[in-house]
Amino acid sequence: MSKTGGGKNTLALVETIRKRAKEKNAIILAHNYQIDEIQDVADFVGDSLELSRKAAETPAEVIVFCGVYFMAETAKILSPQKTVLIPDPKAGCPMADMITVDELRAFKAKYPGRPVVAYVNTSAAVKAEVDICCTSANAVHIVESVDSDEILFVPDKCLASYVAKKTSKKIIPYPGFCPTHHRIQPEQILKLKEQHPDAVVVAHPECTCEVVELADYVSSTSGMLRIVKENPACKFIVVTEMGILHRMKQENPGKQFYAPSEHAVCPNMKKITLEKLAWSLEDMEHKVLLPADIIEKARASIERMIAVS
Ligand code: 13P
Ligand code: SF4
Repeated sequence: MSKTGGGKNTLALVETIRKRAKEKNAIILAHNYQIDEIQDVADFVGDSLELSRKAAETPAEVIVFCGVYFMAETAKILSPQKTVLIPDPKAGCPMADMITVDELRAFKAKYPGRPVVAYVNTSAAVKAEVDICCTSANAVHIVESVDSDEILFVPDKCLASYVAKKTSKKIIPYPGFCPTHHRIQPEQILKLKEQHPDAVVVAHPECTCEVVELADYVSSTSGMLRIVKENPACKFIVVTEMGILHRMKQENPGKQFYAPSEHAVCPNMKKITLEKLAWSLEDMEHKVLLPADIIEKARASIERMIAVS
């Protein structure tokens, strides 16, 4: 049952979406940064790792992925026999676009012999040429699992620097970053801390080092949700994309949340709307299609990650 509070049109759209999803034997997966209405209509809302697992396990014939393109590609890689749809194929991830296959090859050539760990925020073609993937939920654990003292880490320099502090291995970072998380400034957190000295600071590791250093806890989006739920504190400074606040507020009605920057909004995540989701299910568009060899090679690096997570 949807918790969407919108008007008549919204309720009608939600009903249409649920009806079509049932007719088409489709599961609707949504990332924690999706707009509130999409989170409410979805069958499952989660972080990148949880969504990959769901995509791999679901008995549904169709996966409608409400997130950014690399996430839908990951679902297709893990369930190639299924139809994977993304309601807006232009919902890309600028960080994932910061490394192309040619750039990856040049980076590897500069540091020969070192294994490559790729954040899942990469294209399928890049995943096909790395040793193992990771998400923000398991990055430290994955790096620890790799049998080498020196590791190339692509494309997020911030996640790389967070991991480097948690391991004795030498991490060689690629200079990519998330433009949305980079909008959050340390001064904004310091100001909120001054106003709410009893608040717990939870941050995503895509934030800059200066911001991450101010956090009490650093975790993936779903990890942040778990920390807030389990921590007895009443006030939290939430340092990531604004979309996470929807579930946080729903799951913790008695707690208060403060976001350091209202500009921390990922415009690509917000491209998925109820209308586009309804059309997607109606027309069975837009299908995520990948060459068989890319699927096979990229799947190996994602499955290695899932096996050690
Ligand atoms: P999570 O895996 O933590 O949900 O992060 C994905 C992402 O793109 C954050 O910007
Ligand atoms: Fe990409 Fe950043 Fe948006 Fe996540 S929040 S999808 S890393 S641009």
